[in-house]
Amino acid sequence: MELKKKVIVITGAGSGIGAASAALMASLGAKVIASDINLKNAEEVVREIKKAGGVATAYQADVTRYEEVDALLSQVIKEHGSIDVLVNNAGIGGRNQKKTAEHTLDDWHNVIAVNQTGVFYCMKLALKQMTEQGYGNIINIASLAGLKPTGNNLSYSASKFAVVGMTKSAALEYGSKNIRINAVCPGYTHSSLLDQLLSSRPDMEQKLKQLIPMGRFGEATEVAETIAWLASDGSKYITGQTITIDGGTSLL
Ligand SMILES: NC(=O)c1ccc[n+]([C@@H]2O[C@H](COP(=O)([O-])OP(=O)(O)OC[C@H]3O[C@@H](n4cnc5c(N)ncnc54)[C@H](O)[C@@H]3O)[C@@H](O)[C@H]2O)c1
Repeated sequence: MELKKKVIVITGAGSGIGAASAALMASLGAKVIASDINLKNAEEVVREIKKAGGVATAYQADVTRYEEVDALLSQVIKEHGSIDVLVNNAGIGGRNQKKTAEHTLDDWHNVIAVNQTGVFYCMKLALKQMTEQGYGNIINIASLAGLKPTGNNLSYSASKFAVVGMTKSAALEYGSKNIRINAVCPGYTHSSLLDQLLSSRPDMEQKLKQLIPMGRFGEATEVAETIAWLASDGSKYITGQTITIDGGTSLL
């Protein structure tokens, strides 16, 4: 698998799955633009990539702010001339794991803003450029929670079902423009997002592991492998699909 000189923008690249994807894709020859709301973390990821001999730039952008996404993508086009691949990875979970009637308005608005509206902003602006350049590739990081209900997780589930829907809808629209759009649906994967869930509900760890036929959580690097393959020409006839990486959880 190689990604030689592909210009790849990753949102939420400062930690977890985004950081692992940035490192892997840079090691495969991509020019990585590691964007995050947390610039310090993105810069740390870029430092490590450069230390390993890769090419990467850190950029601060909050995906909930249209003008910041616009500025990020405009800067990439100015510096590199194209956006070959966009990985919409930035995402957050809700603070409260409660049933729908107790779901807070704050959780609803914050989670939908990042996970759903953020993906829309990034897709809208990138697709304009990809249409002009005559090709493109978008990989949206949805979730197993976007394919089946988990309970006590309404806004997250709504946002991730929406990402799957946006992926399929846009893939249908842009196939004829030589632009592929796919979604990756990780199950429970080690990251700050999972840690946050487990620290608010320590009783969950064993319960969750019982839901995973392979008996363990996934690693960010394992999700990154699939993202890199979708970014590569090895997957060049695949569009509008969701690929689940969950140790078999979706089978139950
Ligand atoms: N870890 C899991 O178990 C799991 C499972 C399924 C799906 N996912 C999805 O994978 C993606 C990556 O999550 P992760 O597990 O690596 O979590 P993470 O918390 O380690 O990383 C998320 C990154 O997104 C950034 N971010 C948050 N809000 C942002 C904003 N408004 N603008 C730009 N960046 C922002 C954070 O700073 C962080 O660096 C998310 O979309 C998440 O929903 C994770």
